[in-house]
Amino acid sequence: MSSPPSLPFFLFGFILASSLATATIAAASAKPTPLIFPVKKDASTNQYYTSLQLGTPPTAMSAVLDLAGQYTWLDCDANGGYRSSSYRPVPCSSTKCGHGSACTGCSGPARPGCTNDTCGVYASNPFKDSVLASGLGEDVLALRSTDGIKYTSKLELQKFPFSCVDTDWTEGLANSTKGIVALARNSASLATELSAQLKLSRTFALCLPSSSSARSGHGDLYIGGGPYLRPPIKKDLAKSLLRSPLLINPVSTAPVYTEGDPSDEYFIDVTAIKIDFAPISFKSSILVIDKNGVGGTKLATLTPYTVLHSAIFKPLVREFTKKAMDRKIKKAAPVVPFGACFDAKTVKSGVAGPDVPAIELVLRSDAEWRIEGANSMVRVSKDVMCLGFVDGGSKPRTAVVIGAHQMEDNLVEFDVASSTFGFSNSLLLQNSSCSHF
Ligand SMILES: *[C@@H]1O[C@H](CO)[C@@H](O)[C@H](O)[C@H]1NC(C)=O
Ligand SMILES: *[C@@H]1O[C@H](CO)[C@@H](O)[C@H](O)[C@H]1NC(C)=O
Ligand SMILES: *[C@@H]1O[C@H](CO)[C@@H](O)[C@H](O)[C@H]1NC(C)=O
Repeated sequence: MSSPPSLPFFLFGFILASSLATATIAAASAKPTPLIFPVKKDASTNQYYTSLQLGTPPTAMSAVLDLAGQYTWLDCDANGGYRSSSYRPVPCSSTKCGHGSACTGCSGPARPGCTNDTCGVYASNPFKDSVLASGLGEDVLALRSTDGIKYTSKLELQKFPFSCVDTDWTEGLANSTKGIVALARNSASLATELSAQLKLSRTFALCLPSSSSARSGHGDLYIGGGPYLRPPIKKDLAKSLLRSPLLINPVSTAPVYTEGDPSDEYFIDVTAIKIDFAPISFKSSILVIDKNGVGGTKLATLTPYTVLHSAIFKPLVREFTKKAMDRKIKKAAPVVPFGACFDAKTVKSGVAGPDVPAIELVLRSDAEWRIEGANSMVRVSKDVMCLGFVDGGSKPRTAVVIGAHQMEDNLVEFDVASSTFGFSNSLLLQNSSCSHF
C-alpha cells in the first residue's frame, strides 16, 4: 500500500489506554496462561483468518489476520448474525480515546457502528487502499487458554475494542470473513490488548497452515508466549527458536499517521541472502532502513509471496535457476507474477517440499532462516511450479517484504517486550507442520 504524506487535518495519534483497570476476567486464575486462536487459510485469496467469538450471545466472526493492522474492525451488520446486547460504544471523553483523536457521530438509526459521541479510529482496508474513520466499540470476547497446542480452559475478556463497519467495506477480504484482526505493534492491536488486559507477556506467535483443506485441520495464533508444542516434535519449540532483533522503522508505514510516528510493522535485519550457502551479490545498503524509512525487511501476512527489490530479485532468480539446472531441473515458460518457472516432472520431492536449492535469509546475530522447497515453490499447474518470489521494482518502500507463503509451516514469534523475532525454520523437516486438529 502506498502511504500518503501524513494528514494533519484528520483524526490521528490515538493512544488507546490499555484499560487495565476495567479488565474483568471471568475465569479467575492465579497466573494467566497463554491464549490460542485457530488459523485457517482461504483457498481463493490465500488469506489467513481466525474466528472471534464476540458478544452476547457469542457470535462467531471470522476475520483476516493482518500483521500491519492497527485496529480490529468487523462487519457488524445484524443480517450477518451479530446482535449483541453487550456492545458498548467508547465515548469521546473516555480515557481509552487517546488525545488528538476525533469524535464520530452517525445520523442513525442507532446500531453498533452508528452511534453519536463515539471515539473515532481508523479502519484500514488494505485491499481498497483506503481508510475510514469509524467508531470504536467494546464487547465481550470469548477466549481459550492453551497448554501449547490444545485448548485447556475458557475465559472472557469483557471489553475487547474493535470498530464496526458496513458490509461494503469488507471488499477484497476472503469470502467467509467479516473483517481484519489487527496484529501491529501498537497499543490497540488484538495482541497488545489481550496481553495488557490479561497481564500476559507481550509476545505472540503465528503458525500458518499451508493447506486450506478442512481435512488438514488448522494452524494457530498464540498470544502470551510459549510453550509451543507441535507433535510429533517432543520438545517445546519456544526453547529452540532461532532469534534476531526486531527493528523499529523510524518512519510510519501506516496509511495515515502523524509526522514523527515510527512504523508499527515488524521489521527484521536481513543482512545477506544465500542460495545453497552461496551469497547472492547486490548492493546490501538497500537492506538497511534509511532515515526516510526506506529499505529494510518486514513481514506481511497479507502479502502472499515475498516481494523483493529488483536489485535482489534479478540475481536471486538468476542464481536459483542456475543451481536448479545443475540439479537437472528443466525450465518452463514464466507464469505471472513469478520470474522463474520449472517443469514439475523434473523436480524431485523431499521432506520439506520440492527438492530445490535452499534460499537462506541471514539475519543479524547469524540466525539463518532457511526457505525450503515447500516455502519457495508454488505449484501453478499440474506440470509447472514457479519460484514464489515477486519483483517489487527498483523503488519499493521496503526492500524485502516476506510474504505468507514463506512463513507457512514455520513457527514465527514476535516478542515485542524484548523486541526479538524468533523462528523455527520449516517444521516439515521435523515431521511436523502448522496444521493439526
Ligand atoms: C445523533 O445526533 C443527531 C443530532 O442530535 C440525531 O439526529 C441522530 O439521530 C443521532 N444518532 C443516533 C444514532 O442516535
Ligand atoms: C464468494 O462467494 C460467492 C458466493 O458464494 C461466489 O460466487 C464467489 O465466487 C466467491 N468469491 C471468492 C473470491 O471466493
Ligand atoms: C518422519 O517420518 C517418517 C515416516 O513416517 C520416518 O521415516 C522418519 O524417520 C521421520 N523423520 C523424523 C525426523 O522424525
